[in-house]
Amino acid sequence: MHLPDLDIARKREKRENKYIELKENYSKIFKGKKYFLRTYGCQMNTHDSEAIRSYLETLGFIKTENLEEANLVVLNTCAIRENAKDKVIGFLGKCHYLKKNNPDFKIALTGCLCEQPDVIDEIRNKHKYIDIIIGTHNLYDLPKLLLENPKKQEIEVYSESDEIIEGMHYERDSKITAWVNIMYGCDKFCTYCIVPYTRGRERSRKLESIIREVNDLKNKGYKEVTLLGQNVNAYGQDIGENFAHLLEEVAKTGIERVRFVTSHPWNFTDAMLDVISKYENIMPYIHLPIQSGSNNILKRMNRRYTREEYYDLYTKMKEKIPNVSITTDIIVGFPYESEEDFLDTLEMVKKCAFDGAYTFIYSKREGTPAALMKDDTPQSVKEERLQRLNELVNYYSNLSNQKLLNKVVPVLILGDSEKDSNKVYGYTDTMKLVNVDGPKDIIGEIVNVKITEAKSFSLDGTYVDEKVHS
Ligand code: 5AD
Ligand code: SF4
Repeated sequence: MHLPDLDIARKREKRENKYIELKENYSKIFKGKKYFLRTYGCQMNTHDSEAIRSYLETLGFIKTENLEEANLVVLNTCAIRENAKDKVIGFLGKCHYLKKNNPDFKIALTGCLCEQPDVIDEIRNKHKYIDIIIGTHNLYDLPKLLLENPKKQEIEVYSESDEIIEGMHYERDSKITAWVNIMYGCDKFCTYCIVPYTRGRERSRKLESIIREVNDLKNKGYKEVTLLGQNVNAYGQDIGENFAHLLEEVAKTGIERVRFVTSHPWNFTDAMLDVISKYENIMPYIHLPIQSGSNNILKRMNRRYTREEYYDLYTKMKEKIPNVSITTDIIVGFPYESEEDFLDTLEMVKKCAFDGAYTFIYSKREGTPAALMKDDTPQSVKEERLQRLNELVNYYSNLSNQKLLNKVVPVLILGDSEKDSNKVYGYTDTMKLVNVDGPKDIIGEIVNVKITEAKSFSLDGTYVDEKVHS
């Protein structure tokens, strides 16, 4: 048994990266058994779940969407806000009930929640029925623990974060677009955020391995890759590389679309902007979390930039990258946020006229510096701020969508539309969702679409009969 330790997770001493090449080849020992996998949280978790799928299917498990018929439930958890945890605990209740009536039913937990000592205490005391708990750094232990078939609760959570896994296998959810991890962890320590503790220190994959993976995806017919990191700007700092160089090398593979998330406004370099504007296959879309428009609050959040610096960068992006779309994240109700601070945030939203924004009410995370700050804004005020903010954000995303009305834009078609099964859906180069009236055989292609209707959260369009390159 290994338990998580926040003091270890917090440490950022200079240490060597340990690159591990995964080579395990398990036999299909669980042939015929079924697994149910549920993923909470961010793209990093979504991508980790593609690795989990690969492990389980290599062991012989078959995927099921029906919890009742599963022999194994894997929950890949998120810790970013309290409601993410509440959802997991709620779902565990259901699993516990099923397990009581089915001796062949195991429950495994992984993801960011498992890296938190207080959550692990709670699991050991109140959720003894959970069989296996694995942290984010040693997800690759999942097959081993399943094969060991522990009779009592097994917790294997490490807080050291020196390892970088190469040669990982993924059972990807899509055959058209793919996530590619470029680095792990985060060293920014924004005061509200649990990620630097749950995902460990910043450590980069080797450039050659990333390029190999992208080339491999391209050869398999993938049209788009999204380079993934908690803060992609920091790529390579630990190995004498930099993100601008990596991005350029990825663009040079010639894969049709390249995206990246997430960018921190703090060390977004001119070299990065130059590369983005130079290559046609790097999409004109940047997710640039601002978090707050108040300099007081940005400082308390340890964001390392002022509203003025953010706006300068924003302006530079708009100037250098034609047609760029910029989205953001905003937190309301951070400790000490006054009405005036909040109005500063609204003002920045107006100035930047974001293409879209994810908005959140601040949620206290145990172990972070902000958890020690006085959080005395009443919940009702936080909710009211969120509503005012959302109205403004929706106004601007609608405005930016309206600009596309009657235009013909390239769209990568990903599958059947959820709204209408006769339609297909896809994304513009600027990452806008479009429901498209068009034939099914354009799925997987970048095609021209004429935009016929623009709403706040999506566009409607009609396929214009010709295939294009973006
Ligand atoms: N409370 C509310 N929102 C948070 N985020 C991160 N930590 C918290 C928290 N404690 C938001 C930030 C981040 C996004 C992924 O989640 O806006 O950019
Ligand atoms: Fe969290 Fe800040 Fe790191 Fe983003 S940059 S993961 S908000 S600590």
